Amino acid sequence: MEEISIGLVGAGTVGGGVVKILHKRKDFFRKKLKLPIKLARIADKQLSLLQDLPTDDAICSADAQDVLQDESINVVIELVGGTTFARKLVIEALERKKHVITANKALIAEYGPEIFECAEKNNVSLYFEAAVGGGMPVIKSIREGLVGNDIFSIKTIINGTCNYILTRMTTEGLPFDTVLKQAQQNGYAEADPALDIGGGDSGHKIAIMASLISGGYVPFNQINIEGITSISKEDIEFACELGYTIKLLGIINKNSEDNELDVRVNPAMLHTDHILASVSDVYNAVLLQGDAVGQILLYGKGAGQMPTASAVISDVLDVSRNIIGGNEIRIPTDHYSSSNMIDLKSINEITSRYYLRFTVKDKPYVLASISSVLGKQNISIASVIQKEGYSDNSVPVIILTHQASEKGIRAALSEIEKTDFIKAKTQMIRIED
Ligand code: NDP
Ligand code: HSE
Repeated sequence: MEEISIGLVGAGTVGGGVVKILHKRKDFFRKKLKLPIKLARIADKQLSLLQDLPTDDAICSADAQDVLQDESINVVIELVGGTTFARKLVIEALERKKHVITANKALIAEYGPEIFECAEKNNVSLYFEAAVGGGMPVIKSIREGLVGNDIFSIKTIINGTCNYILTRMTTEGLPFDTVLKQAQQNGYAEADPALDIGGGDSGHKIAIMASLISGGYVPFNQINIEGITSISKEDIEFACELGYTIKLLGIINKNSEDNELDVRVNPAMLHTDHILASVSDVYNAVLLQGDAVGQILLYGKGAGQMPTASAVISDVLDVSRNIIGGNEIRIPTDHYSSSNMIDLKSINEITSRYYLRFTVKDKPYVLASISSVLGKQNISIASVIQKEGYSDNSVPVIILTHQASEKGIRAALSEIEKTDFIKAKTQMIRIED
């Protein structure tokens, strides 16, 4: 073997970064591997993007087939995104016995079993470090560095766009839409930003992490996912006043007493002392707990061109070393199979503390009625705030609860919503201790 030959499909935000690092560190990689890594071909529908990139001797075209049909190429990097064309591309590359590197979390979370089974059948590997946490080595840490542990809990801020939006809304009081536009301009957001703000992107990433720590396949479509679109400026202000900050969290809890995994994405109030509360802007963090190691925190930029390209390049070096060492499937992924599906706990079975913001008429007996319904569901109130200075027609009442069952909270809210003193939908945010 004289070189590792790479074909890149998709030279947009992340692909552009990959081209830059391969060019900049070419000599370093050659020294490390004692073989050159050659970027042989690049395909992107937007050929004009390639003009400003240091493509060296790579043959550039608009057609991904040019990459797939080149028999000299050992490794295909898929950075087009989406699950339609990307799925076909990845399957075809694997069937042509090429190793594949992807940053496409949607593809892995939704079509993981089909893709990993195809890789196994064709005796090649699929690498996906950039799919979770941008520049942070999350996959490598879980699969290799922490392999001696039963990882039983993960709490994570795993979407850069949402964290950027919530941070800017909190610190600068900026409106949601303005900050979302900035996140798009910075290259953080998905092509369809609804995936970010609706929680789907965090859901894809948490599904991948849950599959890795459970040794089975965690189906994305069974995860309870709530995004940040319902979080108002008012909630952010009340949270600050109470000593909390609001973050979009991915949560995995493995309980040894039952076999069901609690996997979910939801906005959460974190006390300002919480280790994740100060993770701001586009930064992500993954707080893991293993039975041997205890707590581990990974922290870094979760999106953007160069941080994500950094993770793709770590896969390029990994696959190159595995090919050179003749150990092409160093880490099997056979657990990622539809015959090995993990049962998830229903959201109704969890317990939590809750922030409840009721919008009510300011009249006698309202607080008493709310607390009576909560009491009937065995929900104990930890604190209550009602402010002066609003119109009699509509005042916010904030209640923080002690630990309560989700089922009880939902039943109580449903009963309270039917009363005539409620003026708008009640806001419920879980509090993570
Ligand atoms: P971009 O949209 O910036 O780049 C994708 C490029 O691929 C575009 O130029 C696009 O052209 C091109 N393309 C699309 N379809 C084809 C095709 N059929 N043939 C050839 N080229 C095609 O996306 P990103 O770089 O931001 O994201 C790429 C992947 O990385 C996604 O899976 C994303 O989820 C993931 N990711 C992104 C991160 C980020 O911070 N941006 C972080 C972590 C992961 P056109 O615009 O014409 O469609
Ligand atoms: N849109 C994603 C984010 C990109 O904002 O985190 C990184 O996966």
